[in-house]
Amino acid sequence: MCGIFGYIGSQQACPLLIQGLERLEYRGYDSAGVCVKDIDLQVVKQEGRVGDLKQLPSVSKLKGTLGIAHTRWATHGAPVKKNAHPHLSKSFAIVHNGIVENHGTLRLMLEQEGFEFVSDTDSEVLAHLIEHVYAGDVVSAVSQALSLVEGAVGLAVLSQEYDSIVVARRGSPMIIGVGKDELFISSDAAAVLPHTRSVVYLKEGQIALLSRSGYEVVDASSGVSVHPEVERISWTLEHIEKGGYPHFMLKEIFEQPRTIAEALRGRLTDKGVQLSVDVSGVERIVIVACGTSWHSGLIGKYLIERLARVPVEVDYASEFRYREPVLSPKDLVVVISQSGETADTLAALRLAKRVGAKTLGLVNVVGSTIAREVDSGIFLRAGPEIGVASTKAFTSQVACLSLLALKLREDKGMPIARFAAELLSLPEKVSSVLELSESIKKLAEEFVSEKNFLYLGRGTNFPLALEGALKLKEISYIHAEGYPAAEMKHGPIALIDEHMPVFFIATKDSSYEKVVSNMQEVRSRGGRIVALVSSVDAEVSKLADHIIVVPYASEELSVVVNAIPLQLFAYHVANLKGLDVDKPRNLAKSVTVE
Ligand code: AGP
Repeated sequence: MCGIFGYIGSQQACPLLIQGLERLEYRGYDSAGVCVKDIDLQVVKQEGRVGDLKQLPSVSKLKGTLGIAHTRWATHGAPVKKNAHPHLSKSFAIVHNGIVENHGTLRLMLEQEGFEFVSDTDSEVLAHLIEHVYAGDVVSAVSQALSLVEGAVGLAVLSQEYDSIVVARRGSPMIIGVGKDELFISSDAAAVLPHTRSVVYLKEGQIALLSRSGYEVVDASSGVSVHPEVERISWTLEHIEKGGYPHFMLKEIFEQPRTIAEALRGRLTDKGVQLSVDVSGVERIVIVACGTSWHSGLIGKYLIERLARVPVEVDYASEFRYREPVLSPKDLVVVISQSGETADTLAALRLAKRVGAKTLGLVNVVGSTIAREVDSGIFLRAGPEIGVASTKAFTSQVACLSLLALKLREDKGMPIARFAAELLSLPEKVSSVLELSESIKKLAEEFVSEKNFLYLGRGTNFPLALEGALKLKEISYIHAEGYPAAEMKHGPIALIDEHMPVFFIATKDSSYEKVVSNMQEVRSRGGRIVALVSSVDAEVSKLADHIIVVPYASEELSVVVNAIPLQLFAYHVANLKGLDVDKPRNLAKSVTVE
């Protein structure tokens, strides 16, 4: 998520801009920049941290009491200096949060009009577009430019000519901080909080002009002035950074309807699957990853083999890299990594490339090492995942693996419509499962003191059982194991008694009856059962101590819906135990060492 901050008043702008960016760092970013207006527009920008930007001698020389600033989370174009914001045209500097979906056509039109681009970003289009339509009034130029843009836009604009900031909101939040004879703008209340608690939240389609005499807000479509009320921020800074949730992990669990939709956006159209990946001539796929990413890889195996009939192997990256795997140029090695920096996964990628296999990355962090080194990739687009326990990245990984399976299926001339419709229905189904959070919290109260837990499932719900167990163990420190439900009788059933609760993932699919008979085996040995089902029948009601009902989804994709209760259960158990949910002991968000 990019961050925007701006200032107009009597203080020197640059130190305030840097401080504003520091308040936005928690959102995750890969480059940063500032523009301060004195006589001219002076821009300094840099890939890397705000701290790196702050150290630049050119930054300390920036004089002026008006400026805008930006932290960039790359979506289009690598995180390098030329792609950092602010972006310049002849007379304007802009910072943008969101995505200009029709940037290609707009860029072509502007280049034909003689505008020269210096970056690979979608955002730079906005600077030249405003320049192109400008006819003396910046607010109407911004309004006109936005009418040509498709996609989410949070925007701040400085002009060479005027001592003002123009701010626009369309699909990406923008607020005005009202200080004493000074004004602030930001994409996030956290950044204005040190200066004022009085804010104006711009509404969709509103544009504001901030000058030294105050601010004016207009409705972009009509140009009519509006007078939004000045509200008071009651939240603490920590509260704001978590979007009002007590923990980043819970915030990220609740972001999943949006992040799954984001993973699919523009990639499933009436023309089929739109992925810029090279999978031609692939005869075998080898998926390598670690932890949660390995679990999504196991699900990817089920999906790709079932939907595209391409053989898939899945391996822990740490094992793959040392077992001298047999690979051929007809193999596609798929590396899955939220951080894009996991040492074992990176080493596995480099091994695959050394032996001439094609590589493809499913990565969240744009510009990460793995993202830069794969031959092609599918970005998860989940936004920064701060909680150490991976949640939204996992479901986005499964969504992207589903897209890959459909792409392979489509390339074989097989129909994809049913699966595509099912994929597109997931965000809504996930939304409805999130409403169970409070009831799952109550369920968690029953199991806070447990020392062990078993998770059982079949088909794609077996890797999900592994994931559910990992979520519980890594944040609540309760020992938990996942197994194929049928494996019970090959050993684990010896563990069953009233002290061994068992979480059955038993949503309706081709193995449902078999899972219910596994429940019977547990029940008859005194085990306690939590059953996750898509419909309640008499049998399950008799066998299970607790039942969680989720919406039905097809066998291939129910894991995405079923993952949510498992994430919420782990979260609530750990939280009820008073543990540090976002930063569990001994764990790092990215394991960059072997
Ligand atoms: C999952 O909740 C853990 N945080 C961990 O297993 C993680 O999935 C693993 O370290 C892989 O990380 P990556 O996806 O960034 O490569």
